[in-house]
Amino acid sequence: MNDLTETGFGYSDGDVDTNRSATTTLNELAAQRLSRRQTLRGGSAIVAATLGASVLAACDDTEANSPPPPPTAEPGTSVTAGTGQLVTLTGTGTTGGHSWVQVSGPTVALNGATSATATFIAPAVSAATQLVFRYVNNTTSTTYRDTTVTVNPAALSFAAVAKNLNDVVTVPTGYTVQIGARLGDPIAAAVPAYKNDGTDTDFAQRIGDHGDALYWYGLSATGTRDDNSSTRGLLVQNHENVTESYLHPAGPTDAGGIRPEAEAIKEIECHGVSVVEYREGANRSWAYVQNSSFNRRITPNTPMVLNGPVRGSDLVKTAYSPDGTTGRGTINNCANGTTPWATNLTCEENWAGYFRRRGDDAARTAKELISLGRYGVSSNTGSYGWSTVVPTDGADTRFRRWDARATGASATADFRNEPNQFGWIVEIDPYAPASTPRKRTALGRMGHEGCWPGLFVAGRKPAWYMGDDSRREYFYKFVSATAWAAADANSANRLAMGDKYLDNGTLYVAKFNADGTGSWVPLVFGQNGIDASSTVYPFADQADVLVNTRLAADVVGATPMDRPEWTAVNPANGEVYLTLTNNNAAGRPLNGTDAANPRHYNDPKGTSNQFGNPNGHVIRIRENDNSTEATAFTWDIYLFGADSAQADAANVNLSGLTADQDFSSPDGAWFSRATNPAGQVRPLLWLQTDDGALTDVTNCMMLAALPGTVGDGGARTITNTGTGGATATQVTRVGAPATAATLKRFLVGPVACEITGVDSTPDGRTLFVGIQHPGEGGTAAAPNSHWPDSQATGTAGATVRPRSAVVIITKNDGGIVGL
Ligand code: FEO
Ligand code: CA
Ligand code: CA
Repeated sequence: MNDLTETGFGYSDGDVDTNRSATTTLNELAAQRLSRRQTLRGGSAIVAATLGASVLAACDDTEANSPPPPPTAEPGTSVTAGTGQLVTLTGTGTTGGHSWVQVSGPTVALNGATSATATFIAPAVSAATQLVFRYVNNTTSTTYRDTTVTVNPAALSFAAVAKNLNDVVTVPTGYTVQIGARLGDPIAAAVPAYKNDGTDTDFAQRIGDHGDALYWYGLSATGTRDDNSSTRGLLVQNHENVTESYLHPAGPTDAGGIRPEAEAIKEIECHGVSVVEYREGANRSWAYVQNSSFNRRITPNTPMVLNGPVRGSDLVKTAYSPDGTTGRGTINNCANGTTPWATNLTCEENWAGYFRRRGDDAARTAKELISLGRYGVSSNTGSYGWSTVVPTDGADTRFRRWDARATGASATADFRNEPNQFGWIVEIDPYAPASTPRKRTALGRMGHEGCWPGLFVAGRKPAWYMGDDSRREYFYKFVSATAWAAADANSANRLAMGDKYLDNGTLYVAKFNADGTGSWVPLVFGQNGIDASSTVYPFADQADVLVNTRLAADVVGATPMDRPEWTAVNPANGEVYLTLTNNNAAGRPLNGTDAANPRHYNDPKGTSNQFGNPNGHVIRIRENDNSTEATAFTWDIYLFGADSAQADAANVNLSGLTADQDFSSPDGAWFSRATNPAGQVRPLLWLQTDDGALTDVTNCMMLAALPGTVGDGGARTITNTGTGGATATQVTRVGAPATAATLKRFLVGPVACEITGVDSTPDGRTLFVGIQHPGEGGTAAAPNSHWPDSQATGTAGATVRPRSAVVIITKNDGGIVGL
């Protein structure tokens, strides 16, 4: 057996530039091969310790950093509270009944209104607002006394977490971190505990690797859908990728270029999605439920159906799906989306690299070669080399399907079209474990990062906003053909609601203008030059347009962006935020900037230069008339990532970041739920990083923000700097600078991780966060992280392997996380 080498079955995250629609310099092929996430390999067999669930407090425990104490008010007194804080009303008397009644102010839910001590969560307010509560003790009922609670607007009341390189999850003082489900944890009754030594099997019944986007779907006490439940629910999480080094006894192996079947099965099944029940127990302790009947793994082998305009198209017919209506599985699921009818949307991002394809050009049509090239389906091996497996059962095509070369007599005799089965948005009903997920082809095919919905308004067509994450790719939205009927939110046939709203509609791509306006251009066959006469690609019909979404967007002159990642929608005003994680000098050269992607500069890391837009930015739009149906919008750049040590505040650190706020490579983005005060009036925005630029000084992180609105800054002309001191000016639109009141670092992750995936319970008092691939780049023999085993003390045994895991964060005083 040979250890795989870097030139063998590597992984490419597709972080490549295949957009040849513009005149700016393209990435070199060499850079494509040197993806920042290529997996290191090798090492020897290691037996590692495992860890039980643990409850761990924040690292920094100094009194000076403590958040303001939760207010406690006695009858006849007055206190002040912040939005989202837990307020305690303390009555008097030890006998007889008690009664707390709200007399005035915004109505709150009083817990314990008939006991001496009542509590409530301070509501969201736009200005200081008085709430009055009346206390009556029945033994002295001839008298009562009023208590006044003055509630202030939302504030980031925690002390910022300092940048650090520790092998723990650090959160602010006053918060607690619990470890949720981890890579390999069993999610069925009979599956043994994870040994974490590379010998575990049966990942179709274990938590997958590289946990990414996640979302909470509430369950009632009787196990039915309950959107308001904050104590029992289903956490749906994507499993984007694997760290091969830690999955096998001594890292991945091959024999003469043939991958072992068992290793490939393990790696395949570690991808996909998990649906896992969680419950809150006594003293706010959280745990997943191993034997829940709702638990489910969706893997690259799970049967799927294709819905929408591409269903039945010749372009998706394969030996497995000769009629092009079905398929197998989902892969490289990154960010997510949701629907008001309580389904989950999972997004297929860097699927292209998994396919072996090189060498069949002579058997391909000219159109196929354009399409394959535009999506980067060009690997000589396919990530991890799964197609090399010689299966025990010769009829088993679960490995051959990853060989997309045209080798058979027709498209239904091989898997040449298998890549066209990926790159879609997939809808899953988390409450129906036996249901078949549906690929919603109307939403286009790309490197789908996320698919977040705009606000739903009765009678208006809803929209979902989507980034295509590769260098110089585009920002999209899908507008349903069907106006929203609010009663559909409660349909028992959830996937039928997906059929109704997600199978017919218009896919648009964004063009950003220098004056702060922009437009949505429809990608419709027969419009805007998207037809058979196109010199970019001769389109045959709408199915061809959707399979080749990137090419259609090229035709209409969409704006190439600095790697569009997650979208997030402000639940109070509908403004849409899009993280643009970074770009390099090849993708965004000095003379290749534009107003929406305006920076080109150097952020030195050690002795290495990093030119381009190495720290990324966050753009946001306001739709005209605040309507999801709008075809035009205004925009500005909400935040620019930067190193606060960067001296050039006029041209690089344009948001004025300080050491408490500086970040690089924004990726995850999510607004707090509108079901609690953190998502109302002035909602909290959470930003997560997947960074390689600032990692000499800090691990990846999550920040909390209280953003303003589009246009709260102004126009700016900056001077960019390239190699050799060359300069160029660029006009852009810069949002209001960050202040200590509007942006703070809330969390720093363990070594070599990415922070990705965030949601809360509907009450906002429990936050779930994904810690992805700690220890990436390490080996089985020498892991470079031992998290989560290291969480308690910052260290663990030298051979303990790291695991991706969910962390569960609660505020010790019972208030809403972040406020
Ligand atoms: Fe999977 Fe674009 O992050
Ligand atoms: Ca991501
Ligand atoms: Ca990313």
